[in-house]
Amino acid sequence: MGLYHLLYHSQALQPFDTPALTALLHQARAFNREHHLSGLLLHTPDDRFFQILEGEEDVVRTLYYDRIVADPRHHHCRLVGAGACAERSFADWNMGFRVANAAELHALLAAATPAELLLFAPQPRVRPELLKLLLDFVAHHELESISYA
Ligand SMILES: Cc1cc2nc3c(=O)[nH]c(=O)nc-3n(C[C@H](O)[C@H](O)[C@H](O)COP(=O)(O)O)c2cc1C
Repeated sequence: MGLYHLLYHSQALQPFDTPALTALLHQARAFNREHHLSGLLLHTPDDRFFQILEGEEDVVRTLYYDRIVADPRHHHCRLVGAGACAERSFADWNMGFRVANAAELHALLAAATPAELLLFAPQPRVRPELLKLLLDFVAHHELESISYA
């Protein structure tokens, strides 16, 4: 199987403060490193997540459907793109992290496949416009002062 990426967003069911986020990233990075996964996690002050995962298709799908979707710390996981990709966009990170505000998240979601098209494509591809916005976002946003490394 080849390289695959998957994008989703979700709503936390508990407040994710710095210690909770640090613990989540610590665990995720260890797992992702071991499984050759890369990606980026965004978190908003109103506790929403937006994440892109990249790696071998079966590894990405198993992590998302068996573990992340089943994680009781968040709900309403909504896939906004998934499919084969030629190369990794976040190769340097087992799981990069940025804080996004609600407007930034809204702009990213607006670039995702429109809801009415999802009816016909339950697994929409990752739109190039969305990927570009995400890369621009990362390029222009420094990490928060707290070290999540
Ligand atoms: C928003 C969010 C993103 C997550 N991303 C990852 C990830 O990239 N890699 C990972 O191993 N776990 C990630 N997790 C954690 C998994 O959902 C799960 O807790 C972890 O894999 C441990 O699963 P287990 O308790 O079944 O062993 C994430 C959880 C949340 C809430």
